[in-house]
Amino acid sequence: MVKSYHHINLVNDASFLINSKESILEASLKKNVPFCCECGGKARCSTCRILIVKGEENLSEINAAEAKLRTYFELPKNVRLACQTYVKSGSVKIKRIMNDESDYPLYLRNKLNKNENIGRELRLCLLFLDVRNFTPFAEQHLAFDVIHIIRKLFFNFEKIIRQFEGKIIETNGDGLYVAFGFEKTTKASVLDTVNCGFAILKELKRLNTEYFQRYFNEEIEVGIGAHLGKVATGDLLLENRPHQIVMGYAVNVAARIQELTKKLDNSFVISEAVYELLDVPPEAEVSSEKMKGVKEAFILYKIGEHFQYKKEK
Ligand code: FES
Repeated sequence: MVKSYHHINLVNDASFLINSKESILEASLKKNVPFCCECGGKARCSTCRILIVKGEENLSEINAAEAKLRTYFELPKNVRLACQTYVKSGSVKIKRIMNDESDYPLYLRNKLNKNENIGRELRLCLLFLDVRNFTPFAEQHLAFDVIHIIRKLFFNFEKIIRQFEGKIIETNGDGLYVAFGFEKTTKASVLDTVNCGFAILKELKRLNTEYFQRYFNEEIEVGIGAHLGKVATGDLLLENRPHQIVMGYAVNVAARIQELTKKLDNSFVISEAVYELLDVPPEAEVSSEKMKGVKEAFILYKIGEHFQYKKEK
């Protein structure tokens, strides 16, 4: 006998048995789950979007009406319309995407974004870079020179980052935050991160000799920190453009490691998680460090050089 009731879990809302003849929207409304459904379940609005967390194979096929709307809004594979979707077998775990009308602009304009990324969990290698002594430098030079130098540095660093398939997630004046491993294995992303860090340091030496000393009588130094870990990543639409965000505890740790480069007097410091995945690890000094806002002590590997030109005050 074919079972006509299946189990549905709406994350943060409710869990109940659902009849295979009722759409997820109908069944949820009956259970008083506050679903958005602007068009009344006619596959015309897409406000009933759900994220499939588990059990995609237990859902009904995409019908013609849903397919049309999916094409229009370019919905990703793991998003369905609750009003057109039925649970056919087993159990499913889903999440409402629009909690209320204030969420509409976050998603309904996503048709402008061809490569929508509404959120996934990844293990990425994260690299933070910061220019040393930049505040006193900025105070002593014309604003034009300050911007010019940062442009010069980041233009050259960006080429290297792209070469190693890193993605710049943020810049904050004199710092960069880069993530590696969106399309690669963890091991490959770790190697890319470390090689990218070394390539940046090498390029900086060249720039110092051939450019900054010559035209500005300055030598620039950077501190680089890297860590590997689980992160949440997705797109944020700002000014109608997608900005990729990568967030999580691992990001905080990577940022703290970068901050420690100053105290450890080393231009490139990586965590044990990164170091352990290198087949041919570089020579390193090891130390165990406590970091602000991070509970446990971390084993860190100093793989760069001592700062040469200016000592931080
Ligand atoms: S309620 Fe409008 S598309 Fe589902």
